[in-house]
Amino acid sequence: MSKKLPEPTTRPRERAFLIGVEIYGQNGLLPLEDSLNELALLADTAGLDVVGQATQKLEHPNSQTFIGPGKVEEVKALAEELQAEVLIFDEELSPRQLRELEKIFRDRVRIIDRTTLILDIFAQHANTREGALQVELAQYEYRLPRLTRAWTHLARQAGGGGGRTGSVGGVGLRGPGETQLEVDRRDIRRRIDHLKAELEKVRTHRLHHRLRRKRSRIPVVALVGYTNAGKSTLLNRLTNADVYVADQLFATLDPTTRRVELPGGHLALFTDTVGFIQKLPTALVAAFRATLEEITEADLLLHVVDITHPNAIAQANAVHQTLAEIEAGHIPVLTVLNKIDRLNDPDRARQTVESFPNSVAISALTGDGINDLLTVVGRELYERYQPIAVRLPYKEGGLISTFHEFGQVERVEHSRGGVFIQGRLPGRLIARFQPFTRLPASEEAPAGDGYEHDDQELIELPGYGPDDEDETQEA
Ligand code: GTP
Repeated sequence: MSKKLPEPTTRPRERAFLIGVEIYGQNGLLPLEDSLNELALLADTAGLDVVGQATQKLEHPNSQTFIGPGKVEEVKALAEELQAEVLIFDEELSPRQLRELEKIFRDRVRIIDRTTLILDIFAQHANTREGALQVELAQYEYRLPRLTRAWTHLARQAGGGGGRTGSVGGVGLRGPGETQLEVDRRDIRRRIDHLKAELEKVRTHRLHHRLRRKRSRIPVVALVGYTNAGKSTLLNRLTNADVYVADQLFATLDPTTRRVELPGGHLALFTDTVGFIQKLPTALVAAFRATLEEITEADLLLHVVDITHPNAIAQANAVHQTLAEIEAGHIPVLTVLNKIDRLNDPDRARQTVESFPNSVAISALTGDGINDLLTVVGRELYERYQPIAVRLPYKEGGLISTFHEFGQVERVEHSRGGVFIQGRLPGRLIARFQPFTRLPASEEAPAGDGYEHDDQELIELPGYGPDDEDETQEA
């Protein structure tokens, strides 16, 4: 199944002017210049032509206009001279800053920030119904507190997501004493409620699918990485999946999952996910919860890094940060250093590889290193056993029998709160058991873990047999 390509845009490309700020003492993941280069790439992906940029170093952002008043005047003159139509701030603007800036620039230019731009790109690339609903919801939630003018203005401001904004149903009828702005806000709130209800329906359907997939016991490997690292290219290389690949940021929004045979005949499901980027606001991450659930439920993460990128390490750190934010930090990670075909300095390549422990170097484009990668994935999932100690509530019967069936059990203790099992599990199962890792009740601190200790007793090993009920309790 191939993904629909984004429709070619027939709109003339708008002229954009970028504004970046460096706050003293605050080191972002990327230096200001690199962050602006990335913003320029984002703008290009969104269909804008960058005609100029301005930067400023500040103690802290101006609460009214983000940049200082002198800089505002400078930008105004430059934007006019360059005939800029859009001003893009590299940071998130507060509702108040947006309002003030709009007052100053009147209707001459549109003011947007990094988040709005990213949402716009997401809107252009959402191909599934769930993806489109998620983006539209995130766009409205972001805009609601920032709404300063009438709806007609908003519709024009919508950029790539404009088609969807237009579908909201136009201007509602004014109630007694309501201003146009109030009507617009009410319409948006109504639309938000509707979108949430629709999303809930789609999610229930998807949960059902995921449970079925889990019961099939095929481990899931999620590809994660900074945007443009080569995740889709790798998935294509592994599976001939025909996933849309482009030298653009965020070409992929909706997850695609494919089955791959590993050396030795074992199977694994590989799933592509949305690319990460620095300064991805937490609210935005939350909006893509469903997409990101594919990551948090995976048995192994392949962290794809574009080793040729000058900021490869900072990008990898941004990915680690987002993984921690979405609570996927417990899943084993294998780093995939991609695009080695572009490296012509073997020494530099070796040095970079050494700075990423547990990594495999590949070229998703030429296929170099792919067999090694699959061998390592197979080993991580099926051969490498890791020590673990868990306390499983009795209602987790599926997990208890899975431990006995696939793991090496060294010690078992029963108490009223659950069963404590210590032993070793193959890598592919570690992530599922991680939420239950505990010391045995007899060795835990006397209070505070919610388990009852006094009635705990050692019982002989029960004879759990193989059981097909694995994970069915998870619903
Ligand atoms: P997002 O959808 O933005 O998250 O990107 P992605 O990580 O899925 O990247 P994608 O696979 O779309 O690749 C981005 C660009 O890098 C494309 O132009 C690919 O052709 C290129 N690319 C990917 N892998 C390699 C590689 O091994 N070598 C080279 N030279 N280019 C590659």
